[in-house]
Amino acid sequence: MQANTQAVKEQKVLIAYFSWGGNTKTIAEYIHEAAGGDMFEIKTLQPYPKEYNPTVDTAKEEQRLNARPKLSATIDNMSGYDTVFLGYPNWWGTIPMALFTFLEAYDLTGKTIIPFCTHEGSGFGSSIDDIKRLSPNALILQGFVVRGGSVKRAKNDVDKWISRLDIGGR
Ligand SMILES: Cc1cc2nc3c(=O)[nH]c(=O)nc-3n(C[C@H](O)[C@H](O)[C@H](O)COP(=O)(O)O)c2cc1C
Repeated sequence: MQANTQAVKEQKVLIAYFSWGGNTKTIAEYIHEAAGGDMFEIKTLQPYPKEYNPTVDTAKEEQRLNARPKLSATIDNMSGYDTVFLGYPNWWGTIPMALFTFLEAYDLTGKTIIPFCTHEGSGFGSSIDDIKRLSPNALILQGFVVRGGSVKRAKNDVDKWISRLDIGGR
């Protein structure tokens, strides 16, 4: 049997996101409605506190220690995805340390990473530089950034952004 090397490969989409308070999760759901694909929630084995201030303190300490919090689940078939939407809240100016763990766990060479970030004033901060450093052989596309307080009104903006991205059909 001859392999058909000419076959046009369908883009397989993964939406991987970390969300402590639910804002980033809401954007992940909008993306899923618009682009399809598989959803994966990046969660730490040790959950963060339920209250805001202790979480802020824990995150600050993790950043100071350059920690790599263990994650509660892994993706078995990362090689099967072409496009990875990567979502996170801005924590202390960049990606939460759990995203460092996540990006170091997978070889994303040749894949397209599309970041999306929710925040309360810092925008992407230095998260894009950190993602590039952690996944140097991936193509990083223009991401989507929104304030946490505007997430509920952001569905149209997400739809417009997705339609401008060249990621193939659902
Ligand atoms: C630990 C922690 C650190 C944060 N650091 C920042 C920050 O440096 N800059 C900023 O604009 N927002 C910061 N925020 C606000 C979050 O980015 C914002 O509320 C985001 O929408 C939360 O997303 P989530 O509901 O998906 O967790 C921080 C929030 C937490 C809990």
